[in-house]
Formats: sequence, structure tokens, C-alpha cells
Amino acid sequence: MPRKIVVTSALPYANGPIHIGHLVEYLQTDIWVRFHKMCGNQCLYFCADDTHGTPIMISARAAGISPEELIGRVYKEHKADFDGFNVKFDNYYSTHSPENRYFSELIFARLDKAGSIVKRDVEQTFCESCNMSLPDRFVRGACPQCKAEDQYGDSCEICSATYRPIDLINPYCATCRAKPALKTTEHYFFKLADYKQRLKELIDGGYTQKSVANKLDEWFTTGLKDWDISRDGPYFGFKIPGEENKFFYVWLDAPIGYMASAKNYCDKNNLDFDKVWNSDEYELYHFIGKDIMYFHALFFPAMLMGSDFKPADKLFVHGFLTVNGGKMSKSRGTFIRASTYLKYLNPEYLRYYYASKLTDSIEDIDLKTEDFINKINSDLVGKFANLASRSGPMLIKKLNAQLGQLDDRGRQLIDKLTDAKDHIIKDYENLKFAAVVRTIIALADEANRYVEQNQPWITIKTDLEKTRTTLTAVINAVRILTIYLKPIVPGYARKVENFLNVDKLKFADVETLLQNHRINEFQRLVERVDEKQVDAMIEESKEDQGTKPPAPAEAEAVVTEPFKPECTIEDFGKIDLRIAKVIKAEAVEGADKLLRLNLDLGGTQKNVFAAIAQAYEPDELTGKIVICLANLKPRKMRFGLSEGMILAAGTGRKDIFILSADTGAKPGQTVT
Ligand code: 2FM
Ligand code: ZN
Repeated sequence: MPRKIVVTSALPYANGPIHIGHLVEYLQTDIWVRFHKMCGNQCLYFCADDTHGTPIMISARAAGISPEELIGRVYKEHKADFDGFNVKFDNYYSTHSPENRYFSELIFARLDKAGSIVKRDVEQTFCESCNMSLPDRFVRGACPQCKAEDQYGDSCEICSATYRPIDLINPYCATCRAKPALKTTEHYFFKLADYKQRLKELIDGGYTQKSVANKLDEWFTTGLKDWDISRDGPYFGFKIPGEENKFFYVWLDAPIGYMASAKNYCDKNNLDFDKVWNSDEYELYHFIGKDIMYFHALFFPAMLMGSDFKPADKLFVHGFLTVNGGKMSKSRGTFIRASTYLKYLNPEYLRYYYASKLTDSIEDIDLKTEDFINKINSDLVGKFANLASRSGPMLIKKLNAQLGQLDDRGRQLIDKLTDAKDHIIKDYENLKFAAVVRTIIALADEANRYVEQNQPWITIKTDLEKTRTTLTAVINAVRILTIYLKPIVPGYARKVENFLNVDKLKFADVETLLQNHRINEFQRLVERVDEKQVDAMIEESKEDQGTKPPAPAEAEAVVTEPFKPECTIEDFGKIDLRIAKVIKAEAVEGADKLLRLNLDLGGTQKNVFAAIAQAYEPDELTGKIVICLANLKPRKMRFGLSEGMILAAGTGRKDIFILSADTGAKPGQTVT
């Protein structure tokens, strides 16, 4: 009996482009869905844009458009990116939809009826000049622990402390720099702890991977807290029924967006939503990244349990993407947008590369550019496509494009390939794609050895029929390998199907043979990756960082800040600038951005912490003559006392430039 399966991937925010980091999940899910479809299962893949929340409202404001217009634009971009990568959703929808409003209200009403919703006063940071409540990330100020300036309202990037926005020293609104006020307002809370027992049972029943379950255990131990599910207006989202100025928090309606997408699909395709979403007839699986486990393993299933909907059968959690061993980075050009990738490279390369790395674990996967080029050229081109290009053209040119029959040796090869089917299916099912790829490569090696042993390029000169028999086995091997590879590289498989003159290949076709059959004209299946294309893509991704106007999603980060209050020449006269020589510079453990500098100011030494670690290596600073603000009041930081400041300016990260002086200048000398 074919299975009936519903699958979702996490909904991308509608305020930024899809990048290669997002694609780990969409490609993993798409491969799994395609695999099930090829097994003859009914598999429905739903997703949508995640459109609500303050960041989207602010991005739209910054771009001078309505949130609706912003999410409309981004929707088209996301769709084009997914189409470009052959990610084939059965429905790609939006959380800003009537279906989603309906289900959000329904679930909220049912939870309320079940006694799972309470109202409570909360103290919130509010910006009078922007007229809105500020989410933690929109309040900035100095870290209460290490005193580093310009930190977010929830955690410090320098010392990793976590705190509330009101704990910041001199907090200000990230949008307009006004000082936020504290406002007491009533919010709705979901009583998550009421569901502790049922959630535990769900997790113990294998809802997710072991490593995730362990993490969840920690949360169970520390206690499940009530979850704040409302936000005060102005807010881009769904108004809470009966309220004038309160909205559902985006994370309440986002996962409900899976249901909205399913409902929209069912209505368009005459299917019964209750059956598809909420009955045992259909299995349900969510794919997510490890950063949003809390929402999908606790909040969402609890919400569903409390409102008469079934939770998913399983939550598949994956790790993040790193590139060349590090975080994706705009300055290094490794923060690559899907659309930029598609300008330079075939999407099938990335699909294949990710598949060759993906397992069922939550470990991060690393894209090494050199490894990427080698893998594509040696496996996809050198092993798989090569097998077809060694046999197809010869059959067409010399043997009327006509296959014959297998002999014993050919049969042996094909049996070996066929025998791997169950193993490959099992690995696909269990998300062990790297193992799938390894198995298929080993089989391709076997088939290539068969070609070497039978030397069709020699026998073609003396024995046409023997050659036809050999090539019939090779073509059958190509066909089986293509079936195995098809969920990963559907575009490649389509070309093979055309050339073999066969219908769409399914897993069941592994059991049959292609004999006495005429094939079509051969077309090249896949090109080698040219290193220059990869370099050009990285180069363009570097340019993305500033030479171009920002995309709406990033616009809030570049809103021009109003000037600070005037400072008089007398104020300025108070500062004492001195020449200083860097005696020692070193990294600070636990603070990625800081360097500890030991400065000689002519007889006096000062210890200074400078946030320049992303712009300078410690080694290049030793011996450098810099200018020090010598009379700055010492500040106690978590890492020690900072007794001054060196003069440097820039827009941040790599763009910080130290003001240095002539090497002849004497430490301690006054600077004017
Ligand atoms: O983390 C994110 O990118 C969210 N937009 C994911 C939402 S998934 C689901 F809950 F909608
Ligand atoms: Zn403001």
C-alpha cells in the first residue's frame, strides 16, 4: 500500500533573500519528498513565507513601502529561487492569508477554552518616537556585564552575557536612537507547562533525534515557562479577536502557516483537509534547523495538543552550514544568495554536494569550495555522466541506437546494482543521504570497471554484436544509477530519461531491464565545474556588501541615525591624545571582537581593550605607533580593566581603521 505523507520545511522570513544556508534544509527536504514520490507514495510538500513581525514592519517602513508590498515582492523572489534549485513544493503559500488567520484564531480560541491562556502584565521597552514596542533586538546599549557598547537587548556579542533590554546601560532604540521608555502592558501567555507530561511522552516516543531529545531534557529540567504570544500594535500580524491593539506574536502564527498552506492546497485540489492534516491516514513530518527546536518540539506540538490537532509523527532537525570551515561571511563572499549562485553554477551541483554531506544528525555541514569542485568533477561528471558518454554515442553512431540483450557477465553487473536497492531506499528513508551517495559511487565504479574490462572501443572494430551486448549492460547500469540518483539530481535524471527514451523513472523500474530498445540522440548530461565560476560567484557575493543598495530586508540596518546632541569645543578640549606604541596585542578568550593591547605611553603602560579583532590580526599590531585617548576614565570590563582607547574609526567589523603615526613619533608625546 502506498503511504500518504505530508512534509513541511520551516517557513523563511519574508524580509530577506534565500541563501545557500537556507538551502541545506530545502534541498534535504526536497530530496526526501522526491524519494517518496519515486517510491509511489503520495507525498505532499508544503511551505510558505513567514510574513509577520516587527522586523518585516520596519524593513517595509525603511523601504518606504507597505508590509504587504514587501512580502509580495519577497514572495516572488523566494519562489524564483526555489524553482531555480528544483525545490518542488506542492504548495508554497503565505502566513498572511485568510486560512492562516482562521487557524490562528481557531487554535487560540480552543486553547483559551481549555484554560491554557492567561493574561498578565509585562514591562516592555517602548519607543515613543517610533511609537512601537521594541523587540529585544531593536534595543541597543552597553552590556551590563562587560560594558561593551552597542550590544543587542538580549545578549552581548562580546561577552555572551544574556539579559533583558532594560538591563542595558544607556539603552536606545536601534531605529531612531531615542531612549526607550518602560511601559506596562497586558499580554496573553500560553501555559506551556500544562503540557509537560504529554510533551515528554511525545519526545520519549521518538518524536525527534536522540541528540535533540537530550537537549529537550535540559529544558524539561529547567522548567517550561509560560510563553508570551501577544504583541502590542503597531505590529504587522493578525489582530487578536476582541482586542483593539493586540496581535498574535509572529511565532504563534508561523507554524500554523504549515496548516494554512495545506488547507489552501486541499481546497484547490478537492481534498479533505481534516483527513490530510489531522487523521492517521496521513503521516506528518517537519524539517527544521536546530535553532528553532524549542518552537517545534515544545510550543507548536503543545498548541496542537491543546486544540485537538495531532502533532507530527517526527521532527527532523539538521545542523547549520559552514563554508570553508567558518560561518558564512559577507566579507569573505561566502554568504551566497541563491540567486547569485544560480547566475554562475548549475543547481544540481549544490544538490549533489549537500546530499554527499547530509546525515541524520544535527552536526553542521561544511561546504569546502575546493572539495565541491572536486566532487562534482570526479563523481557527477567523471563517474556517472562519463558512463553514459562512453556508451551512448557509440551505440548511436555505430549500432543504430539499438540495444540488444544482456549476457551473463552483463547480468552479473546489473544484479549487483539491483541488489543495492533496498539498502539505498532504507538510507534515503532515514535521511542518510551521504551513505546513499557513497553506495551509488561504489556501484558506478563497478560499472566503469566493467567498461574497462570489456573495452567496447576495441571490440567495436571487430565484433559489433559483442559490443552491443556490452553497451546494453552499460546503458542498463546508467539507468539504474540514474534511478538511485534521481531524488538528488532531478535535472540530470530528466536528461538521461530523454536520452534513454524512457518514461519518468521510479524506484520500481530498478527491477526491469531495458533490452531490444532504441535510445535517443545523446546530449551532454552535465558540465565540469570551472573554478573561475566559483571564484566569480564569491567575488560577486563580496560586492553585495555595500557597493549595492541594500535589499529591503537589510534596510533597517542602514537607516541613517540622527546626530547625537551637540558637543562643544570645550568638551572636546578635555581629551588628552598621546602617541603610544603597541607592546603586545592578543586575542581575548570569549570575546571574538576584542583585542587586548598593552601600550607604552612613554614611561606609563596602559591596558586597553579594543573592538578591532575582526579588522586586525594581533601580529600586525605589535610595534605599531598609534594614538591613544589617554585620559579616558578606566572602565572595568569582564576581561579586565580598560584604561584608554586607541583612535580608530570605520563602519565596523573589517571596516575599522586605526589612526597610526609616524614611526619616529615618541610614545607619550602629545598629539594635537
Ligand atoms: O527561523 C525562521 O526563519 C522562521 N521564519 C521559521 C518559521 S518555521 C515555522 F514555524 F513557521
Ligand atoms: Zn525609535
